[in-house]
Amino acid sequence: MGKSVVVIGAQWGDEGKGKVVDLLTDRAQAVVRFQGGHNAGHTLVIKGKKTALNLIPSGVMREGAPCYIGNGVVLSLAHICGNPRLGIKSELETVEATGMEVRSRLKISEAAPLVLPIHARLDQAREKARGEAKIGTTGKGIGPAYEDKVARRAVRVGDLYQRDLLAAKLGELMAYHNFVLTHYYKEAPEDFQQTLDDLLAYAEVIKPMVADVTEHLRQHLKRGDNVLFEGAQGALLDIDHGTYPFVTSSNTTAGGAATGTGVGPRELDYVLGIVKAYATRVGSGPFPTELEDGPEGIGAHIRKVGDEFGTVTRRPRRCGWFDAVAARRSIFNNSVSGLVVTKLDVLDELETIRICTGYKLDGQVIENPPIGAEGFEKVEPIFEELPGWQSSTFGISRYEDLPENARRYLKRMEEVTETEIAIVSTGPDREHTIVLHHPFD
Ligand code: GDP
Ligand code: IMO
Ligand code: MG
Repeated sequence: MGKSVVVIGAQWGDEGKGKVVDLLTDRAQAVVRFQGGHNAGHTLVIKGKKTALNLIPSGVMREGAPCYIGNGVVLSLAHICGNPRLGIKSELETVEATGMEVRSRLKISEAAPLVLPIHARLDQAREKARGEAKIGTTGKGIGPAYEDKVARRAVRVGDLYQRDLLAAKLGELMAYHNFVLTHYYKEAPEDFQQTLDDLLAYAEVIKPMVADVTEHLRQHLKRGDNVLFEGAQGALLDIDHGTYPFVTSSNTTAGGAATGTGVGPRELDYVLGIVKAYATRVGSGPFPTELEDGPEGIGAHIRKVGDEFGTVTRRPRRCGWFDAVAARRSIFNNSVSGLVVTKLDVLDELETIRICTGYKLDGQVIENPPIGAEGFEKVEPIFEELPGWQSSTFGISRYEDLPENARRYLKRMEEVTETEIAIVSTGPDREHTIVLHHPFD
């Protein structure tokens, strides 16, 4: 059997999963997304050229590697195929514009539920109604689409090719949600016929790509191919294990790689947990180590140097110190085998660097993070301080070339997380990487 490596974000997303997946694809014969939707924004920089992907696996930028969208993903066909009327760019065309062939290499699961325009409308109407208490979603309709999946009323990719069934399913779904949109949120309804016509047009575009993804992956593994599973979001945004309700609506943790593709859990050989050398969060919700030290502070410095602005929404990301308590829980939730520490270079100029090694709740030191947002809001981080290195690590690709204090910081990260660091990233480009242990070895 081939080897399966699962890449997951071990914080609140945007850890650099896209870069890592692109990097590892040179040793993979298949790359698969297993959860989330076009709320994800994965940025790849190859020889200085930047590409941002939302739904198509980051393996697409390496010639040859087949890419899969598993059943666990919620699929926006407007996003994949584009829709000029709605001002939506096609991600297929975005990739093609870089010169990469995609249509012959991308396979989409028949079982993936669709994200429809009405889901985005509901998502946005809810956020508006929540006011200050909003989740800070991406507004793409991800939550409502997953709700429909669990409510057993989703329209799935396979339904697109049975016209009567499609119209009936879509009709039921839209009647239900239009009732809520108009009566509860006092908003305009979404047009059924337009949605149906659009779906029928997209269905023709993706028809050659629709496949039994589970069977394809089984064949790959049987043949001895290496398979890369690309997570989206991060463990602390997991619907079960994250800072609920300030989470996304899928299982972002490694178990999702099995359920979201149909590959059984014993086939997953190695889990690579991606963390930044610090922490960020976009959207609302608790963030114990957040730096709220004003426009001249370290938080703003990290945001500027790290270019910490959302890929999907361009919102500024909240920045803070590395949180080992949350990381330890994530590492267990995901069975993390090895860590990737990204964006080490962003800390280059700092005089001192902090790591959160414990939490206090009501004056008591607690070993484990609280469950859910309410408890999380109340914890006080316990920090230890390490000296910075105040020299450039940007682009360094050999561990020996790192300044001593940077190595000391990484060593400390390994100690407090009790996990080996497999890869260190020192810049956005593929080349800006130190590989200590290759997960496919
Ligand atoms: P993802 O959602 O986990 O794929 O991460 P994003 O792409 O949303 O955000 C990570 C950002 O950091 C992207 O703009 C990357 O190009 C960039 N990046 C990744 N690794 C590094 C690194 O080691 N150093 C620097 N400076 N930037 C990095
Ligand atoms: P990648 O894959 C960071 C956040 C949103 C919001 C919450 C719920 O690039 O790491 P949703 O639209 O999913 O219902 O929003 O989750 N969020 C992300 N934050 N990176 C992401 O993806 C995210 N996808 C969703 O900001 O707080
Ligand atoms: Mg991102």
